[in-house]
Amino acid sequence: MEVEAQAKAAVIGWPVSHSLSPRLHGYWLAEHGIDARYAALPVEPERLSDTLKILPAMGLRGVNLTLPHKEIALACMDSLDAIASDIGAVNTVTFDAQGKAHGTNTDAYGFQAHIAPLLKAKARKAVVLGAGGASRAVIYALRQMGFTQIMVVNRSPKRLEQISLAFPFIEPVSWQSREAALEGAQLLVNTTSLGMKGEPPLELSLSGLPIVALVADIVYVPLETPLLQAARKRGHRVADGLGMLLHQAVPAFELWFGIRPTVTEALREHVLAGLQ
Ligand code: ATR
Repeated sequence: MEVEAQAKAAVIGWPVSHSLSPRLHGYWLAEHGIDARYAALPVEPERLSDTLKILPAMGLRGVNLTLPHKEIALACMDSLDAIASDIGAVNTVTFDAQGKAHGTNTDAYGFQAHIAPLLKAKARKAVVLGAGGASRAVIYALRQMGFTQIMVVNRSPKRLEQISLAFPFIEPVSWQSREAALEGAQLLVNTTSLGMKGEPPLELSLSGLPIVALVADIVYVPLETPLLQAARKRGHRVADGLGMLLHQAVPAFELWFGIRPTVTEALREHVLAGLQ
């Protein structure tokens, strides 16, 4: 495997060429005058474990993991913190001086840092669409944020059951009942792939959702999904998926480089240019 000489961190995915993380971390490395590169490494799932063992010797301080590695990485870590274990996925790995891999998950932090400042009054009820890996991070964050009623809507009953076992405090809702679930909610979050470029649209009438509710999508291609467009039209405040992506990178960068970077409008513009 080829890793550029100056690489001190990287994102591992399969495929990985679409990842915005090199652009994102590269911006902060330049901003802070750190002489290091953040690489993109295409690694097949079967080779993840071996790859994580050789990267520390190549000078890497850590890696981010993206699809399809986040869940399988749990078994490849030498240690796992409570957040990664509760969410059931690793998105950030730090290597220690002995080359041991320590896994955490910053996706919940990323969601919370993006959404919490946008919530007006004390929010109590949230509706989450989807029950995959992203949904788990969102549910974890919502609990931290003090939501007392978290309804999770999913198409497949099997996955809904699995997520209810992992997070017994949620209220599972069938896909058919998704519109009725919106009543009285202060937040609606889409964590499914519906509405993403190349995927089917999300079919959902927002008529039962209070106008004060914030509508968030974790999809960021396109940046303004049809869900966010429809919500904006009705007068809702909206939060796009790029915010979570930018914020989840903050603790990772700090773990590896010892500086806590900031999410700014200039960073957002820089990363957005990579989407075009
Ligand atoms: P991620 O890790 O990004 O969350 P994932 O684990 O593949 O991705 O989860 C994708 C989510 O989108 C799931 O909740 C999935 O629902 P199912 O559990 O029923 O598969 C949801 N999803 C994908 N396509 C869908 C569709 N056409 N209709 C409804 N939900 C869909």
